[in-house]
Amino acid sequence: MSITHWKFALVILASALACGAANADGSGDSAVASSDDGKYADKDGNPTYKISSDGTVDWYTYSGFRRYHSDCHVCHGPNGDGSSLAPALADSLKTLNYADFNNIVTNGRNNVNASNDKVMPSFGTNVNVMCFLDDIYVYLRARANNAIPGGRPPKHEDKPEAAKQAETSCTGIK
Ligand code: HEC
Repeated sequence: MSITHWKFALVILASALACGAANADGSGDSAVASSDDGKYADKDGNPTYKISSDGTVDWYTYSGFRRYHSDCHVCHGPNGDGSSLAPALADSLKTLNYADFNNIVTNGRNNVNASNDKVMPSFGTNVNVMCFLDDIYVYLRARANNAIPGGRPPKHEDKPEAAKQAETSCTGIK
């Protein structure tokens, strides 16, 4: 291989690595651009996850893991990996954006026709889901970008005061 070919190969490798780091999904670049008491947002203001190099996840990603596995995994499979009943949300979020996600979970979706009898129920009146939509979203966003492996995140940040207050006022449970 000539020197020019080597240089060319390095440029390709460098851009492939840069793309990998950017983690573009349905909502765009998932990199943390701002934070508010342990809740992270990307440059467009969409909720996003923060995973530290030692594997510690932010509180909302951890909470989303728990909420997902209590209310969604019966159909969508563990870890957002899908099942015969419903699609893999870890794949869906590679193209669905935050607004699409909120809309489908709140209102449900009914694509029933001759070849599809699958129904996504509406969760609009379920406080265990509606009060934690962002949590479930950031967890699945992390899964879509392969930022965390399957399974319970081993370490997480402490529950922020804001999360405690929001939970109390939203769910009505003191
Ligand atoms: C009773 C089974 C069931 C449960 C529980 C369920 N879903 Fe679904 N969901 C489905 C089915 C089936 C579809 C596909 C519907 C279709 O084909 O339009 C779906 C579709 C979706 C989609 C769109 C996926 C895509 O690729 O377009 C999202 C997002 C979604 N569900 C989120 C959730 C979340 C979040 C939860 C938990 C709060 C949840 N679902 C719980 C059955 C379920």
